[in-house]
Amino acid sequence: MGRIKIFDTTLRDGEQSPGCSMNLAEKLQVATQLEKLGVDVIEAGFAISSPGDFESVKSIAELVKNCTVASLSRALEKDIDAAWEAVKNAADPRIHTFIATSPVHMEYKLKMTPEQVIERTAAMVKYAAKYTSNVEFSCEDAMRSDPDFLVRVCDTAIKNGAKVLNIPDTVGYTTPNEMREMIEYLIKNVPNSDKAEFSVHCHNDLGMAVANSLGGVLGGALQIECTVNGLGERAGNTSLEEVVMAMNTRPDLYGELPRIDTKQIYRTSKLVYNIIGQSAPHNKPIVGANAFAHESGIHQHGVLANKSTYEIMTPESVGVQTNQMVLGKHSGKHAFSEHLKQLGYDLTDDQIVEAFGRFKDLCDKKKTVTDGDIEALVSNTATVEEKYKLVFFDVKTMGKMGVGSTICLKKDNEFIEQTSLGDGSIDSLYAAIDKIVQPPEHVLDKFKINAVSEGQDTLGEVTLKLQSNGKSYSGRGLSTDIIEAGIMAYLNAINKLMQ
Ligand code: KIV
Ligand code: ZN
Repeated sequence: MGRIKIFDTTLRDGEQSPGCSMNLAEKLQVATQLEKLGVDVIEAGFAISSPGDFESVKSIAELVKNCTVASLSRALEKDIDAAWEAVKNAADPRIHTFIATSPVHMEYKLKMTPEQVIERTAAMVKYAAKYTSNVEFSCEDAMRSDPDFLVRVCDTAIKNGAKVLNIPDTVGYTTPNEMREMIEYLIKNVPNSDKAEFSVHCHNDLGMAVANSLGGVLGGALQIECTVNGLGERAGNTSLEEVVMAMNTRPDLYGELPRIDTKQIYRTSKLVYNIIGQSAPHNKPIVGANAFAHESGIHQHGVLANKSTYEIMTPESVGVQTNQMVLGKHSGKHAFSEHLKQLGYDLTDDQIVEAFGRFKDLCDKKKTVTDGDIEALVSNTATVEEKYKLVFFDVKTMGKMGVGSTICLKKDNEFIEQTSLGDGSIDSLYAAIDKIVQPPEHVLDKFKINAVSEGQDTLGEVTLKLQSNGKSYSGRGLSTDIIEAGIMAYLNAINKLMQ
């Protein structure tokens, strides 16, 4: 058994799922954070799928230095060409090519016979291997494929140059034991199986993706494909934070641990949620608000006596900050930036100046500024140019007539004011913003309010999503005034839409 490698596909399998799309700046931010987290491979996208995807894979490949960068490609020459063109400047580029191997996929989707699939595998792995020796091959829907056919496909892939053989449970159908047995079977029966590493890629349709991935590791897989927060098609993929912490908590079971810096887990999760305009369900393992909370008296008593009575890992081990009141209105920029470093944030000078301004504003409004507040302030900054900025707003409730709002926005050096009526504050303010910006037709799809910490003066966080022309745009706003947070979230999304 060797060290388990973490292949992150948040920017491909995660990003392609509904409501999770990201712009280039956001993808670069996620890639930088994944590098810091210590993943082994970043699957940056599916280069052939669109010019935007191609550009983002290329930019990530050129940015990232400490991990492999892969692009997905179907087993087609033009896909492989695009994948290589996009990743070739990476420090360690990988082409990840795939073809389906299950009877149902071969017959109805590919309309190919098993023999044709074998031939295509041989030809396309060979084609990819002309570009690089770092070729990964996936048997799509492997867990509903005939194991002996998989043996033949894997053998063909190895013979033609594949170095990683990925066994996906594409439809989330398998069980941990089956996955373990499948990997064991392949390692035992594929000739020269030691010339490649086996990998698992599980979907979560029955809630077993993490368990199935761990089953694969017990069977001998050396790579786990996963996504931050378990994002992905339908019910998602194996969640990176869960599978990594499962291995870290039980090193007695899972061989050599991944090289992940677990203290970066919470930050990575929060960044990705912020970008896609969602937040963790409270009971989500590792990163949910209740993941380390002890409510019942018996549990609290036990934890006070000795944490290990009810805690199998510490919040600190995944980067959750538990201390209160760290800095106040008298703290200077130097102390602020030193504290950010301690929290693990590595911001540029300009970003520090910007964040410090917001920190000072917050100190004027809030008695106790916690690490959680500071993290909320600096997480996911500057992913979009703020073409329209909020200057001021005013809201008047008028009983049965609804609400009348005035808003003033700054665009370049121009101040533009508008008023509008609506059913409620948010409705009227958003209508006033629309009058100023005149964005393309869009609908407000999701709107969520979240309290960052406790107390009446807590920072309110609004995350939302707009749909326009089949695309979704997320927005996030943060303020001690929840209406202002709502305006900022809307402007954040509108600025993306107008970009
Ligand atoms: O789920 C799947 O089968 C995939 C492959 C393309 C690796 O995402
Ligand atoms: Zn998948």
